[in-house]
Amino acid sequence: MARDIVFVKWGGSIITDKNRPLTPNTAMISRLAAELKPLLSEYSILLGHGSGSFGHWAAREFAKLKDKNPQLYAVKVHAVAARLNQIVVDTLADHDLPAFQFPPSAIIFSRDDNPSRLCLGALGEVLRAAYLPVTYGDAVPDAKRGGTIFSTERVFFTLNSSLKPRRIVLITSVDGVYTADPLKDPNAERIPEITPENFPNIRKSLGGSHGIDVTGGMLSKVETMLALVRTSPWLESVVITSAEKGHMSAAINGKPVGTVIRGD
Ligand code: IPE
Repeated sequence: MARDIVFVKWGGSIITDKNRPLTPNTAMISRLAAELKPLLSEYSILLGHGSGSFGHWAAREFAKLKDKNPQLYAVKVHAVAARLNQIVVDTLADHDLPAFQFPPSAIIFSRDDNPSRLCLGALGEVLRAAYLPVTYGDAVPDAKRGGTIFSTERVFFTLNSSLKPRRIVLITSVDGVYTADPLKDPNAERIPEITPENFPNIRKSLGGSHGIDVTGGMLSKVETMLALVRTSPWLESVVITSAEKGHMSAAINGKPVGTVIRGD
């Protein structure tokens, strides 16, 4: 029987030090690599990772170019994002994981910030042959804008209907979606499950006055992922959880950790 495909994202804020430009959290990358290894015998995993203090830093550092020369801006951001990707695949190889790079800039051609052409190449085969393809948040070429930035979630969204994952697991700095910003509000509660039924109520509390930055980012992530599970019958759930030991494995195995988003 074909193995389930699972997309896993390691958030940029956990695999880099967000406060220091170009600083990977190598201990964390190493720990997550070790935790991922045994799961490869059971699942076909597409690993994606965020860009943290690499790509986000570069996007600010080269911001002056954005209007003047958007193509060069995208190239500069891409080059820096690729540096972190190299560190991630080096670490995966150190752990004897069969990692191969699949940069979004080589897969997605965009037009006015919409994917106009997808070139998956051998990605599906590599995935099903039990390798570990690795993608990431990247700047991609764009026919109208010169270049545009795709987050890892957006790359997953773009690849979803071609690869048909059973689950998507997002490892973030918080262990799920909270009713308010957990860093600022002691009464914040983790929401174990989000469905189209309970989302309208959850939306209200996420859009409240608490920690608009954190929850704002999370709200758009949840909205995108809820839209995805609703329209993709092959996709059983999207799990948002933290890098705490064992959480990623549990989420990949379909155990209820963090916040589980379902379409039914
Ligand atoms: C950001 O990708 C991409 C760039 C800035 C080049 P993500 O959105 O996936 O990264 P994180 O998780 O926020 O760091």
